Amino acid sequence: MSAMEPFHFPPPTPSDLGDREVPRDGHALDGARVALMITGGIAAFRTPTLARALRRQGAVVTAFCSEEALRYVTADALEWSTVHPVVTRLSPHAEHLSDAAPFDAYLVAPATAATIGRMGASPRA
Ligand SMILES: Cc1cc2nc3c(=O)[nH]c(=O)nc-3n(C[C@H](O)[C@H](O)[C@H](O)COP(=O)(O)O)c2cc1C
Repeated sequence: MSAMEPFHFPPPTPSDLGDREVPRDGHALDGARVALMITGGIAAFRTPTLARALRRQGAVVTAFCSEEALRYVTADALEWSTVHPVVTRLSPHAEHLSDAAPFDAYLVAPATAATIGRMGASPRA
């Protein structure tokens, strides 16, 4: 009996998907442009998985990170999982407005108490 004998691993499922592509679970978000706004809660480490879950429903995801969020998730992991450049600092291009192709939804996840407090305190337009 060899040392490996008790282990019976099935072969991987064949797939034509590229490394950064996602299998489709549905069409609920087909073509929706989602701004995924990531703040500095510990759950930020799960946002690459969240981004891919949104993509599995057809969303096009752009990640925005607060400085604190980058303590718990890396820009590289987010760029890999969204297949888009990650916005860590707004520039004169006003990436959050995206006039040429406006966002359909802004999803703040995780939303820290600090960010919720700032949103609550900001003056209404
Ligand atoms: C390890 C660790 C985990 C944290 N997790 C949370 C959290 O889950 N929720 C929260 O509101 N704040 C959390 N914080 C505090 C925020 O990081 C802190 O308030 C920060 O200033 C938020 O910045 P931001 O909202 O600009 O991203 C955590 C801090 C640390 C050190």
